[in-house]
Amino acid sequence: VHVQEISLFDAIHSQRAIRHFTDAPVDDALVEQMIESATRAPSAHNAQPWRFVVVRDRETKALLGAIFDELGQNRPGGAPSRMPWEAVPLLVVVCSEGSFGSDPSAQMAMDASIYPAVQNLLLAARGLGLGTVLTTRWKRREADLRPLLGLPDAVSVHAIVPVGWPAERFGPTSRRPVAAVTFRERYGTPWQASGEGGRP
Ligand SMILES: Cc1cc2nc3c(=O)[nH]c(=O)nc-3n(C[C@H](O)[C@H](O)[C@H](O)COP(=O)(O)O)c2cc1C
Repeated sequence: VHVQEISLFDAIHSQRAIRHFTDAPVDDALVEQMIESATRAPSAHNAQPWRFVVVRDRETKALLGAIFDELGQNRPGGAPSRMPWEAVPLLVVVCSEGSFGSDPSAQMAMDASIYPAVQNLLLAARGLGLGTVLTTRWKRREADLRPLLGLPDAVSVHAIVPVGWPAERFGPTSRRPVAAVTFRERYGTPWQASGEGGRP
């Protein structure tokens, strides 16, 4: 596969949710490169709690997809258009093993130790020209999903990421401007009031 180099900022700007894929195969070597990039992420105490289950088996993908689509039907406004998961080349299930404790800060440390890795995975995929979408909707049916993946009790699931060659366009994405989401010193004080700073 010829991978066209793309800059970090172009990858950040054009990465978006891709839900339709071609039927072209995705080599394990590329999957490994995405996961290796994910493992470069920060984690609390450098614990690296991430674990990845790569699912290519058509029946498992179909069963996971059935759970996912069923939940999508209940969503107000309906779920975004997507191809059936069984037809997606592979799903990366992002899990964590162990825990940092049971208080809210420990729980947050775990989530915050997994999602940077997920974002690396999405960006690395974009860098390779592969499409992905971060999904969490299946979480309400986690009990049904765990046995399909053989997850032990000490393992939590955080994201299921379909992966394939995109059959729809990458970005540009539509996002609010910095000034609409950033404040100066105190929440509510506009960012744009002063033009301080600048580059050295
Ligand atoms: C925490 C989280 C959960 C998400 N869950 C789903 C999901 O269950 N199904 C889905 O199709 N997309 C899901 N998405 C993708 C978002 O819908 C998508 O990132 C957002 O609409 C922006 O779309 P764009 O990247 O194409 O601009 C999720 C994204 C995040 C960050």
